[in-house]
Amino acid sequence: MKEDRQQSVKERRKHHRLIDRSIAVLGAGNMGTALMKGIINAELTPRMKITACGVHLDKLQILSKQWGVKHTLNLLEAVEASEVILLCVKPQTLPKVLAEIKRAVRNDHLLISIAAGMKISYLQTVVDKKLAIVRSMPNIASTVDEGATAVSFGEFVSEEQQRIAISIFEAVGEVVVVAEEQLDAVTGLSGSGPAYIYMVIEALIDGGVKMGLSREISTKLAIQTVLGSAKLVKSSGLHPAILRDQVTTPGGTAINAIHELESHGLRSMLINAVATATRRSEELSKVISKS
Ligand SMILES: NC(=O)c1ccc[n+]([C@@H]2O[C@H](COP(=O)([O-])OP(=O)(O)OC[C@H]3O[C@@H](n4cnc5c(N)ncnc54)[C@H](OP(=O)(O)O)[C@@H]3O)[C@@H](O)[C@H]2O)c1
Repeated sequence: MKEDRQQSVKERRKHHRLIDRSIAVLGAGNMGTALMKGIINAELTPRMKITACGVHLDKLQILSKQWGVKHTLNLLEAVEASEVILLCVKPQTLPKVLAEIKRAVRNDHLLISIAAGMKISYLQTVVDKKLAIVRSMPNIASTVDEGATAVSFGEFVSEEQQRIAISIFEAVGEVVVVAEEQLDAVTGLSGSGPAYIYMVIEALIDGGVKMGLSREISTKLAIQTVLGSAKLVKSSGLHPAILRDQVTTPGGTAINAIHELESHGLRSMLINAVATATRRSEELSKVISKS
């Protein structure tokens, strides 16, 4: 599996273009670190041009030692020294961080936010400049270079800056460009999606255990089944229904299981899950952007 991952990262790396910009990662937590590692592994910019920022010096020192990046607790210093600002703090921390860096933000900065629910208009108003702002919705799979990220561009983002933002997220997975209004739907699908798939994997494991397989064997088979199926859909380019038909023998096991899943409304449930999460994202976005 690790080799597969390395292979797919290598494939993507072929298309990476050097961005060679100084980058401040404000909030080097799970996602900030994942993006930082992606940028380094894809050799988008020299590691010494990256500054990791946070609130705990010990954590930053470890990152710095491991990845050869600079680090600081001083956000202003990091922003002043950088051309790209990656905003990777929690949404509730963002207003405080923006207030802190506001006076260091220049018109030529590129601000890329991954904070859920924080609208471009909100960020624009807080920094009070005609700033190039990119809003994105990555997902947790970015930490294993298999992320699904959607990006939206504010009105002052140049083509070159769009390319930089796309390259950064491509370093950790697939990227799509959407209108900002669609980011709630993205949150409902790929942002929250890993949680749904974890439930599917968990249930498949339990199914195997119920039928007498050891938990270890069941876990291995369930994970590989989900991974392999996703890989086949992606690599074949075929509609999932065609692939499903290909593994459904008349009168066989799969068609009987599919009937069972249909009678419990599996597809309806998943469609509703995405719709419900989208609506919740819209609600949260309104609350966050007002605060
Ligand atoms: N996790 C996901 O699946 C996911 C998916 C899509 C989008 N996002 C977005 O990604 C962002 C980060 O999420 P995460 O899961 O990576 O959270 P996280 O691991 O908690 O990372 C946040 C980081 O911000 C640091 N921080 C806190 N206050 C700060 C300050 N005043 N100045 C600078 N750094 C500060 C924290 O430092 P300490 O650790 O030292 O406290 C932490 O390293 C969020 O806005 C979230 O909406 C996350």
